[in-house]
Amino acid sequence: MKKAKRVKKVARSKKPKKVLITGAAGFVGHHLVEHILKSTDWEITTIDRLDTSGNLNRFPGISVWDREKKRVHIVYHDLRAEITDSVARMLHGPFDYIMHLAAGSHVERSIEDPLLFFMDNCIGTVNLLNYARHGGLRKKARVNPQSRTPAFEGKFQYFSTDEVFGPAPDNVSYKEWDRNNPNNPYAAAKAAGEQACIAFAHTYRMPIFITNCMNIFGERQNREKFIPLIIRKVLDGDTLFIHSNKARTQAGKRHYLHARNISAATVWLLLHGKVLDGTAAQGKYNVVGEVEIDNLSLAKLVAKYTNDYLASKGKKQRPLDYKLVAFHSSRPGHDMRYALDGSLLAKEGFSYPVSFKESLRKVVRWTLDHPEWL
Ligand SMILES: NC(=O)c1ccc[n+]([C@@H]2O[C@H](COP(=O)([O-])OP(=O)(O)OC[C@H]3O[C@@H](n4cnc5c(N)ncnc54)[C@H](O)[C@@H]3O)[C@@H](O)[C@H]2O)c1
Repeated sequence: MKKAKRVKKVARSKKPKKVLITGAAGFVGHHLVEHILKSTDWEITTIDRLDTSGNLNRFPGISVWDREKKRVHIVYHDLRAEITDSVARMLHGPFDYIMHLAAGSHVERSIEDPLLFFMDNCIGTVNLLNYARHGGLRKKARVNPQSRTPAFEGKFQYFSTDEVFGPAPDNVSYKEWDRNNPNNPYAAAKAAGEQACIAFAHTYRMPIFITNCMNIFGERQNREKFIPLIIRKVLDGDTLFIHSNKARTQAGKRHYLHARNISAATVWLLLHGKVLDGTAAQGKYNVVGEVEIDNLSLAKLVAKYTNDYLASKGKKQRPLDYKLVAFHSSRPGHDMRYALDGSLLAKEGFSYPVSFKESLRKVVRWTLDHPEWL
């Protein structure tokens, strides 16, 4: 709470900052738009190609939308193509901050069509980096050609994932600069995007940072994701299959955090975070969330909140029907456990504004109240 207030105060300036958010019509992107509209006076431009997971109908769900929508300018563009001069003119840069979220985000689809994911997550990132360096990101008025400090005023964020580190043994939580070991095309393509950012930061003196984030949940999430799926299975009385170890004794584990927490972390890092400097020692941040939970415990919790909701409406309760399934041979690329060490962000002074259980309970209630998102 204390940190959120600080963001609000710092982020109101004489001249509003201009920010570009890619993938803003997606699940996390629209939460970031909401957080920025609520906590800053920044002017937002969005890029999206509105594919299966992009949906502009998320925007009217933002509680301040009617009042603040004049601060949002929407541009249609597919980042697999270069940002040409004519598209650039529509964006109205240069920008103080660029936040790059647009990506193919679904592991299963990346296994079916890996090339598409490399086009979106790697080539798309390079196209955006090129736009940023050729006038998209605000340049410093005076630059010393001998210096290694960034030649730009603003910051560029690359929004990456825990999956680039691959599966984590039970006693391991990866730190920011630990080795990558992506186990599926989605994770590999995100890791490729990270490498492009590191190279551009060094070669063109661009102020870039990378966030590696764990599993995010929230309102208006794509229905194929785990939490909406659990709610549907409970309501329909269908069996939920949960990814487990070979012996079917232990479900896969993750950290989960509400989209508001990653949005707040993003804005905090734009204001206070360090950027890549070629040393492989700064400019990457793990955004982890407070709770590690196995997927069976999560399913039970979501089922409980669903039943609490049904009871409050005087409706019949529905038990969770589940089965642990060892996916290893049938679905390679789905890892048992991802785990990141979030101590760096905490040490630098950021704390998460919303708690896991309370935000999960609210999301379940919200989703049941808005069945069009289920
Ligand atoms: N959701 C999570 O749990 C999670 C966790 C860690 C990291 N991430 C990362 O966060 C970002 C956003 O994730 P999300 O869950 O909101 O994904 P999402 O699939 O809901 O949204 C992605 C958005 O990007 C757009 N997009 C995709 N490719 C594009 C392209 N080539 N050009 C223009 N627009 C394009 C889509 O239309 C969509 O609106 C991704 O980069 C993802 O890798 C997500």
